[in-house]
Amino acid sequence: MNDLTKTKSVLAVLSGERRDPPPAWLMRQAGRYLPEYREVRSTAKNFIEFCLTPDKATEVTLQPIRRFGFDAAILFADILLVPMALGRKVWFVAGEGPKLDPLTPGDIDAMQVGDVEGLLGNIGETVSRVSAALPGNTTLIGFAGSPWTVATYMIEGGGSKDRMKARALAWSEPERFDRLMDLLADATIRYLVIQARAGAEVLKLFDSWAEGMPEPLFERAVLKPTAKIVGGVRAAGVTQPMIGFARGCGAMLPRYAAETGVTAVALDQGVDPVWADAVLPAGMPVQGQLDPAVLRAGGPALDAEVKRNISAWAKRPHIFNLGHGVTPDVPIAHVEQLLATLRQD
Ligand code: CP3
Repeated sequence: MNDLTKTKSVLAVLSGERRDPPPAWLMRQAGRYLPEYREVRSTAKNFIEFCLTPDKATEVTLQPIRRFGFDAAILFADILLVPMALGRKVWFVAGEGPKLDPLTPGDIDAMQVGDVEGLLGNIGETVSRVSAALPGNTTLIGFAGSPWTVATYMIEGGGSKDRMKARALAWSEPERFDRLMDLLADATIRYLVIQARAGAEVLKLFDSWAEGMPEPLFERAVLKPTAKIVGGVRAAGVTQPMIGFARGCGAMLPRYAAETGVTAVALDQGVDPVWADAVLPAGMPVQGQLDPAVLRAGGPALDAEVKRNISAWAKRPHIFNLGHGVTPDVPIAHVEQLLATLRQD
């Protein structure tokens, strides 16, 4: 055990130790369910500008730590900053979510990884400021989207129900699709290296749309690009633990855990813990996997599910989290209840 794993429970778990109760943070812990977030958000012209303004992004990263004392802070930013750095237009429409100018085949052919350090340098500044301001026992997590999930937004022009255009492009134009995965992986490596050098202590890759793919597509869209990113980040001398979140990957989980090089896997609520424990590499830490809907619901169901989650992972290094993000309609009292239940066990 080194000094940092002694004081930082999230780093201890990622190095293979168990903690009882497990350390906890929540995906989307900074966001619209917090009045103090809404207040800062209302001062920004648009969401991208908000993410790229270090004093605002630092403040909203720290808000959930001050209010709830989570064991980790996650950098406030967005996975769609990487397409922006690749020259795509990205904007957010209230009530509808992200919009991007849809990619044409010619756009993919012409795309270059440009000045990632220049365009996303402000994110490094936010990481340094958060790092300096955090309590000594709180771990700072940096992140990026994985190429497949980011590409779905680029190809579809925003969120979509079934990612049909993106999946069809992968089958119909394999070379173009693989080029897009490579460009995104290269840009993402550089983006994560900026964050690691600025003080991020853990790096997380969000593959939020890893569901519903047959194995050959999963290999090209998820396994290969993720392994390339982990390898590229390591080749740059970054040793921080990496958490991979292939949401909805189902039966592909064992290959994701074994072949990508990630240190730990984040699990969504649909993964059966008994099955996952049997198929994951011995000792690999897991993060998750409370249903966000039970946090929304509160009451006795929330207490019961928190306890079930803790006992389901009683034998593995475990970081408590949701299976996906906190939704804007979650009452603050439910987050307080979750933490009280977790910490009294
Ligand atoms: O607290 C945190 O988790 C850190 C910040 C964070 C945001 N986005 C802030 C945000 C993180 C880690 C993300 C990741 C992200 N962004 C993902 C992967 C995780 C997931 O949820 O699956 C994805 C798919 C995106 C893309 C994205 N950004 C969408 C689909 C939306 C709109 C959804 C919505 O809730 O409106 C965003 C906008 C966004 N990113 C918001 C926040 C707090 C809400 C925008 C606002 O405040 O106006």
